[in-house]
Amino acid sequence: MQSISVSDIIVKKAAESRIDQVDFDKLVFGTVFTDHMFECDYINGHWQQPTIRPYGPLTISPAAKVFHYGQAVFEGMKAYKDDQGKVFLFRPDENFNRINKSSERLAIPEFPREYFFGALEELLRMDNDWIKPGLGNSLYIRPFVIASEIGVSASAANQYKFMIILSPAQAYYSGDVSVVIAEKYSRAADGGVGYAKAAGNYGAQFYPTRLAQEQGFQQVIWTDANSHQFLEEAGTMNVFFRVGDKLLTAPTNDRILDGVTRKSLITLAKDAGIDVEVRRVEVSEIVEAAQQGTLKEIFGAGTAAVVSPVKAFSYRGTKYDLPAQESSYAIRFKKALNDIQYNCAPDPYNWRYPI
Ligand code: COI
Repeated sequence: MQSISVSDIIVKKAAESRIDQVDFDKLVFGTVFTDHMFECDYINGHWQQPTIRPYGPLTISPAAKVFHYGQAVFEGMKAYKDDQGKVFLFRPDENFNRINKSSERLAIPEFPREYFFGALEELLRMDNDWIKPGLGNSLYIRPFVIASEIGVSASAANQYKFMIILSPAQAYYSGDVSVVIAEKYSRAADGGVGYAKAAGNYGAQFYPTRLAQEQGFQQVIWTDANSHQFLEEAGTMNVFFRVGDKLLTAPTNDRILDGVTRKSLITLAKDAGIDVEVRRVEVSEIVEAAQQGTLKEIFGAGTAAVVSPVKAFSYRGTKYDLPAQESSYAIRFKKALNDIQYNCAPDPYNWRYPI
């Protein structure tokens, strides 16, 4: 990789902040963006001099390959502020490694580590006021790469744009979530791109998700494309099932996203002495457990969704309601995770990354 340095970032500050126009008590997820953004182009086989400049529209040709072939990947991360005003990222190495893994699958060149971390540190310093302290408040960070080369020939681009935009955030889902277990449509296939945070993985879910929403559900839990017998993930989050006192979740593979929240919850639960089984989870065993009353909880885990309890699921037209739990794993492990993220507890795993 070329030798480049963070001090090469050109910084152009916004003349005036827009922060006073924002009502931080009424944020709709992903709709408000901070004053600055990071941009770096890949041209002639090299990442060029990066820029931080005021957040605003891009000028990009309608023939750019991203519009025609969907060569685009992204990440989702968050910055948290503690009560003393200190800012932390959570396991950012995981996101750095994953965006390059996603890029590799989409034939996009690797992004340099020094630029990734340099950009995050500088942006978070510049837009520090947009990170509000207090449990539930965070700054959602969206790094992404698009193929910017002009041309509609169906081949990997030679030019790309790597960007980072920042959005102050609260909850992704406003309440408990109800889900439909997929029977017809699939999210990912063996040998496909399911494990990557490829833009198209998300776009392809919108139609089946809309069908679920028309029936009063918010999300789909995807099953394996071959047999539709095994539960995989929910698209915006990985999924956990609590049967009795055991916690079950699907193993990652080339169809399932290797979620940072997912792996953190597995560690927290195991270290709390919970029996965690990372294995294929059959739809039939979850339906049976629901019928027998041993299915105590289902919850999703993701950066945006954090830990989102599922209140009901539907399978083959039957709706199963989940009972309210007094000592819920979802609530317990969300708290354990938040305590580390917001610097309210020791961090034995070294997951916090101070800015
Ligand atoms: C995230 O949790 O960061 C995600 O990528 C989900 C997103 C599609 C909102």
